Amino acid sequence: MRAKQSLLALVVIAVLALLVVPGSSTPSPTSADATVAGRPVWKGNCDNPRVRKEWRTLTRQEQISFNEAVQCLKRKPHDSRLRTVAPSHLSGVPNINPKSTFWDDLVYVHATCTPLVHFTGLFLAWHRLFVYNVETELQNCGFPKNLGMPYWNWTLDYKDGLDKAPLWGTEPWQIGPATGTGKNWIVEEFPEMVAYPSPHRISRRYNRHPFRKSVESEVLTSSFAANSKVAATNTKVANNTVLPNHIIQKAKEQTGHTRRSKLAKGEKPESIKPANQPKRLSPSDLAKRFSTEEKAFKGSLSQKVKEDDETTNMTGEEMVSPEAIRWVFEARDGDYETFAQRVEGTPHVAAHESFSIHNLDINYSPESSHFYLHHCMVEQEWYSWQKRSPLNQGAIGGKQTQSEHEGLGVGNAVTYDTILPMAGIWPDQKVRDVLDPRGNAPLCYEYQ
Ligand SMILES: *[C@@H]1O[C@H](CO)[C@@H](O)[C@H](O)[C@H]1NC(C)=O
Ligand SMILES: *[C@@H]1O[C@H](CO)[C@@H](O)[C@H](O)[C@H]1NC(C)=O
Ligand SMILES: *[C@@H]1O[C@H](CO)[C@@H](O)[C@H](O)[C@H]1NC(C)=O
Repeated sequence: MRAKQSLLALVVIAVLALLVVPGSSTPSPTSADATVAGRPVWKGNCDNPRVRKEWRTLTRQEQISFNEAVQCLKRKPHDSRLRTVAPSHLSGVPNINPKSTFWDDLVYVHATCTPLVHFTGLFLAWHRLFVYNVETELQNCGFPKNLGMPYWNWTLDYKDGLDKAPLWGTEPWQIGPATGTGKNWIVEEFPEMVAYPSPHRISRRYNRHPFRKSVESEVLTSSFAANSKVAATNTKVANNTVLPNHIIQKAKEQTGHTRRSKLAKGEKPESIKPANQPKRLSPSDLAKRFSTEEKAFKGSLSQKVKEDDETTNMTGEEMVSPEAIRWVFEARDGDYETFAQRVEGTPHVAAHESFSIHNLDINYSPESSHFYLHHCMVEQEWYSWQKRSPLNQGAIGGKQTQSEHEGLGVGNAVTYDTILPMAGIWPDQKVRDVLDPRGNAPLCYEYQ
């Protein structure tokens, strides 16, 4: 026992010694079970990492190739391996639609995992794996193998407006306009239907003030609000659920779901929503949830904002500005929870919410390819925070179930062995397997 402990101490000292060598910003390969402060550190030794580039540094041909690969995924048929993860009554997500496309399957994977992987300790790890898997699918559809998912660095657009980012537009190398020109802002350039929550066409609208009440009410009166109705007809637990039992149990205890599982005659669909399991988050929910964080954020915005309520008047641009990003990175080394909450609650939420309508619905946001470019940037933020210190490389935190009141969730703590469910499409992985982007299987990528 003694010997084991001192061996561990030696390993820790050896690792620390390696890391303080001046100029060695990238940690050297270490033994597989090496740790810093009880946390795994990167091995960083995979061969030929895919290179992820900022959208505007791709060649025109590479941008077109990205769009073509997206269209290719939209032509692929539904994959029958797709499984429900969070039961419909927890997620508000309808049952699998076998008449959908493989692109819709990707949307479904995200939607059915939502209550586990948003505003919980799994947000960053799960989305890292999801984006990587979709990146592989794009490569299988003709996107160059040496390139990773392009990312959209929104900070480059904070001055001119997020809607002025060069990725928006109707040229073949762009991903469609920031605001659709059809009824309910349907993007006329995309004639295809997307399947979830019910078949519709993609709509999108840029909002400079994504948290204002007016935006929310517009969304609720749009045709897309048919969503809640669909969810109400799907209150049965799917038999093919792969959600670990302890999570279902925990969620039931915490939400009092067992009391409210039946929709009484005349009862509004919303009332079947379990108390602490919001199936979709409105901008004002989000603003409330993150009000503490945002207040701290506002404090750093040159006293510009005076009243509490005024977070609703913040622009998406302010939330991705260099100042906002500096605030995100102020999380001290090792403090995963502060970092993760700030990055999820501010730049992440802002660059989604600035583009309603579909992006106001957390479940189905991957129906637009913008989701992936955006999340690849969120992922980059985590990667670069991890890179900053060996204390950050293996830092995890938070709980496993979404809660209306706790930014990082409730229930069981996230551990290195917590499963990241991939809904049958790709193998599930454990949190520990995705901490190192260059740790070989399952991940191997780099940012440029
Ligand atoms: C994003 O853009 C900002 C502003 O120019 C820059 O400081 C930052 O390094 C960029 N990040 C990445 C990953 O490109
Ligand atoms: C669920 O699957 C099990 C095992 O395959 C089966 O016995 C059971 O009848 C199914 N239940 C429902 C509600 O379909
Ligand atoms: C937000 O800005 C609008 C327009 O300037 C103003 O009327 C409204 O009172 C502001 N809301 C808050 C909460 O400050």
